[in-house]
Amino acid sequence: MTERLSPAELRGLFLFERLDDEQLAWLAGHGWVEPAAAGTAVLAEGAPAERLAVLLSGTLRLCQRVGADEVEVNRTDQVGVYAGATRAYLPEGEQQYTATVWAVTDCRFWFLGSADFSEFMHRWFPMAIHLLEGLFLGMRANHAIVGRRQQLLALGALSAGLTHELNNPAAAVVRAAAALRERVGGTRRKLAMLAHDQIDPRMLTLLVGVQEEAVQRIAAAPKLGALAEAEREDELTDWLEDHGVAGAWELAPIFTGAGTTTDFLDRLAESAPPELLEGSVRWLAYTLESELLLAEITESAARISGLVGAARQYSHLDRTPYERVDVHEGLESTLVMLGAKLEGVRVVTEFDRALPPVPVFAGELHQVWTNLIDNAVQAMDGTGTLTLRTSLDADHARVEVCDTGPGVPPELKGRIFEPFFTTKPVGQGTGLGLDISYRIVVGRHGGDLNVESEPGDTRFIVRLPLRDRPSPEEPSPGRGEAAGSAP
Ligand SMILES: Nc1ncnc2c1ncn2[C@@H]1O[C@H](COP(=O)(O)OP(=O)(O)O)[C@@H](O)[C@H]1O
Ligand SMILES: [Mg+2]
Repeated sequence: MTERLSPAELRGLFLFERLDDEQLAWLAGHGWVEPAAAGTAVLAEGAPAERLAVLLSGTLRLCQRVGADEVEVNRTDQVGVYAGATRAYLPEGEQQYTATVWAVTDCRFWFLGSADFSEFMHRWFPMAIHLLEGLFLGMRANHAIVGRRQQLLALGALSAGLTHELNNPAAAVVRAAAALRERVGGTRRKLAMLAHDQIDPRMLTLLVGVQEEAVQRIAAAPKLGALAEAEREDELTDWLEDHGVAGAWELAPIFTGAGTTTDFLDRLAESAPPELLEGSVRWLAYTLESELLLAEITESAARISGLVGAARQYSHLDRTPYERVDVHEGLESTLVMLGAKLEGVRVVTEFDRALPPVPVFAGELHQVWTNLIDNAVQAMDGTGTLTLRTSLDADHARVEVCDTGPGVPPELKGRIFEPFFTTKPVGQGTGLGLDISYRIVVGRHGGDLNVESEPGDTRFIVRLPLRDRPSPEEPSPGRGEAAGSAP
């Protein structure tokens, strides 16, 4: 037997206090009373909005999900507070609850089905309906426009940042290439002069040999601190001046940069006839300088292509369809793609194969795995253990990318997700990997991306909701409204 409230009892609820007898009689005949045991959900965020609930007794909590957490927005025992179905009488077919109501203690509620609610509102308050429709639809349109605008702003900020970041390496390439052209000309002229001096072929062979060795040294040259570098430069200047080479102050920095030592020049001085020494040293300097310039061009070009690659990731956003996929497939194929980079690293997979398929933009998620694994491998610098772990985490799929590298220092934790923030040397880092990953996981999938890190144990944790998003393209309309359902 359905328990009902009488019109007089309904009038006692503030929501209905101004209704007339006919209206109250109608409501009394259509609504019903139902208990809710402590700890149960009376209505659940995201579920179809089927009924309006009005609290008759007990205490309830109104909660909304924010990222991974459920946030309590209201807790009340005020008789007459209502929740749910507040938009059920509006068009657009099926509406969803925008918050969850929990019974904290045993409660009693008066319920009204949303179809009845809709009929009631349309019959007695048609003007209110028109106004609400206008408000609701207008708000939705605004959200869509603002959302697109925000995307454009993000894109604008990105291209401004990208242009700025591209400018330095591009200018470096132009500068280095121009200098290189000059040096190559200088080397040619130097060679002509050496030949003109009737240089002994054995001497030429020796010079070429020395040059090869000096070039080899560049790659192996240890990076010197500023102080050690200044010292080395002084030594080389002295050596050059002692051996009567003019313009020592110009040549010494080149030899320093290339990792050449006075020992090495000593060996050259031993084998070269004194009258050819200056020419030989100069020639060597030209060669080394060319080599350094080439290295700069290579590094800058690598940075440019890294940035362009990252920008391409942005432009591929929203190209892949939204579908349910097994996350393990994506993780495994990313491991295959990264194959060469993983050399020397132990790869451990701890997959929970029972994990249900996850609704995602699969192609975008690939980029997330690629960026996180890439970072992990770079952090370990070629040796260590990369662990990929999956598990079910409440109503989320959880994916952890773990490494045994030095970790993220606590003071940097807040910054690593910023675009263009990188601690890596030129050519290796763009600082966009985590920014892109965050946008994809949080912005596009409504999940979350966190880092837990200490030396030897760093975990990047991705959580993806298993529930379909109502419409992943558009921001969900009027999210804040639910908060108003309990006054
Ligand atoms: N697994 C990790 N271990 C230690 N530091 C990391 C790790 N992943 C990212 N980082 C830090 O976060 C920064 C930003 O990463 P990211 O956005 O991918 O840019 P990039 O890799 O190009 O530097 C890195 O430069 C690094 O300092
Ligand atoms: Mg990276």
